[in-house]
Amino acid sequence: MFQQLDYSGEKTKDYELLIKQLDALSAGETNQIALLSNASALLNQFLDEVNWVGFYLSEKEELVLGPFQGLPACIRIPFGKGVCGTAVSEKKTQRISDVHQFPGHIACDGASKSEIVIPVRHNNEIIGVLDIDSPIHDRFDTIDQECLEKFVAVLEKHL
Ligand code: SME
Repeated sequence: MFQQLDYSGEKTKDYELLIKQLDALSAGETNQIALLSNASALLNQFLDEVNWVGFYLSEKEELVLGPFQGLPACIRIPFGKGVCGTAVSEKKTQRISDVHQFPGHIACDGASKSEIVIPVRHNNEIIGVLDIDSPIHDRFDTIDQECLEKFVAVLEKHL
């Protein structure tokens, strides 16, 4: 089952290992809640300096809280609102170095200072987002973005 891997400290390589682990853990499973639950747990184990990792799932014109690790969070976010809703309306990753500068940011955990939100697709439709918050400014760089987008791409294969 789950094995704590020996990460090298080399960011891109370690993300590659993480993504392989996600692929292996998800193989043969189609239950969305189970897949997203393990994906959030895996990311929470792997990433340092994060305080919230999880998914919001699209329902009508809103995002609804899905599997996550962290403090209880707001349950519904309309499309176009907050960082999460903006990722859906703009159909692209939002990488925010200072959430307090983001107009309309929704503060679920007051400790959050930076955030990355990546749309999750199924049959080319956005079915939700992966949301990761950090208690430090500018936690996510372009390598994190690229690797987390690959993580989501592998997850999407299983959904
Ligand atoms: N900050 C997000 C809301 C979700 S919480 O961070 C878990 C936003 O502005 O959409």
